[in-house]
Amino acid sequence: MKLFSPITINGMRLENRIVMAPMLTRMPLGEVQETAYFVERARGGAGLIMFHAVSVEIASQPGFAETLQPLVEAVHREGAKISCQLSVSIHRPPHKRDYFRGERVGPSAVAGRRELTLAEIREIIAMYGPSAVNVREAGFDAVEIHGAHGLPPCIFFSPADNRRDDEYGGDVYRRMRFGLDIVASVRQAVGRDYPIIYRMAAEEERPDGITLPDAILFAKELEKAGVDCLSVSVGPSARPRNFISPPGAYPLGCYVYLAATVKPHVKVPVMAVGRINTPELAESVLAEGKGDLILMGRQLLCDPFWPAKVKAGRASEILYCSGCNHCATLYRGDVPLLCRLNKRVGHEWEMGEVTKTGPERSGRGA
Ligand SMILES: Cc1cc2nc3c(=O)[nH]c(=O)nc-3n(C[C@H](O)[C@H](O)[C@H](O)COP(=O)(O)O)c2cc1C
Repeated sequence: MKLFSPITINGMRLENRIVMAPMLTRMPLGEVQETAYFVERARGGAGLIMFHAVSVEIASQPGFAETLQPLVEAVHREGAKISCQLSVSIHRPPHKRDYFRGERVGPSAVAGRRELTLAEIREIIAMYGPSAVNVREAGFDAVEIHGAHGLPPCIFFSPADNRRDDEYGGDVYRRMRFGLDIVASVRQAVGRDYPIIYRMAAEEERPDGITLPDAILFAKELEKAGVDCLSVSVGPSARPRNFISPPGAYPLGCYVYLAATVKPHVKVPVMAVGRINTPELAESVLAEGKGDLILMGRQLLCDPFWPAKVKAGRASEILYCSGCNHCATLYRGDVPLLCRLNKRVGHEWEMGEVTKTGPERSGRGA
C-alpha cells in the first residue's frame, strides 16, 4: 500500500504517509497526561504526530524546550516523528483564535477586532523565530505554522477580514505578506535544513472569504519562501457550526478536493484532510495523486491504532469516528480532550498501556 511507503521532507524521514493532525488537548502542557496521550498515538503507528497549536507568546519563552523535551523523546521512542504547531494566543480564554495579549485583534477593525498597528504586526512576526528555535531545541522534527482556521495569518489573507491598504493588505499578494513574513522569520531562525510545514486555508464558507484561486497563488509563494510541506485546510465559516472539523453529516474526505487542487501547482508534498477515516479512502487519495500525506484528526483520537491495524490486515477491527464532534464541543470549555467512543482519551496515563496493534475492538462507531 502507498500508505506505508516512506517519504522524506527536508531531511525528516517518515515511515509512512499517515499523519496525526494537530488537535488542542487542554491537558497541562507536556505533563504526564498529555505525554501518555501522544505516546499512545505514536505507538498506534502514525509516521508523523503533529503536536497541537502553541501560542508564540508561550513558545518563545525560556523553558519551553525543557517542558516539551520529555514528551518529544517519549514519542521518538515509539518510532514516530513529531512536529510542533505555532499560532498566536490560541490558548487564551475566551478561546477565540485571534487574541493577542488578551485583546481581540486583527488586520482590520471588523468582527469586533481592533486593527493591529504596523509595529504590532512586526512584533508578532518577530516572536515566531525564537519560538521555532525553541521548538527545534525541544527535539521536535519540524515546525508547523498555523495559517488556517481563522488564526491571524488566515484572517490577514482573507479579504473578508483584511481591509488594509498598506504592505499587509490590499491586493492578494499584500494579504499574503503576514504569513510569508512569518515563514521568513522562522526560516532565518532555524536555518535551511529544518523542515517547515505551513497549514493554509484554501477556502472559507463566508462571503468575501478566501477562494481556491487565491490559495493557489499563496501556495506557490509559500513554496518560494522555503516552506517544505503544505497542509491544506479551510478557514472559518459564517455559519454557526464546526466547519473546521466537519461533522458526521459531511461526506468522508470532504476537503480532499482542496489539497488536490493546490497540489499540481507546487512541488513540495501536500497533506490532505477532512474525515479521511477509511483505509480505502486514504489509499485512493494517495493513489490518485490528490495528496502526498493523509492527515487524520478525530479518527486517531477515536482509534489511535488505525495505522497498525491497517498495516496488520486487521482493518475490520478499526473503531470509526462518527463525527459527533463531542471532542470539538468540549474543547471550547476548559475540559481536557475526550472522545465519546474511546474512553481512554485523556486517561491513557492512568489506564495502563495497550499493545502495538491496540485493543480488540470492532464496529463502525455510533
Ligand atoms: C478537538 C480539536 C482540536 C483541534 N485543534 C487544532 C489545532 O490545535 N490546530 C489545528 O491546526 N487544527 C486543529 N483542529 C482541526 C484538526 O486538525 C483537523 O483539521 C480537523 O479535525 C479535520 O480533520 P478530521 O476530519 O480528520 O478530524 C482541531 C480539531 C479538533 C476536533
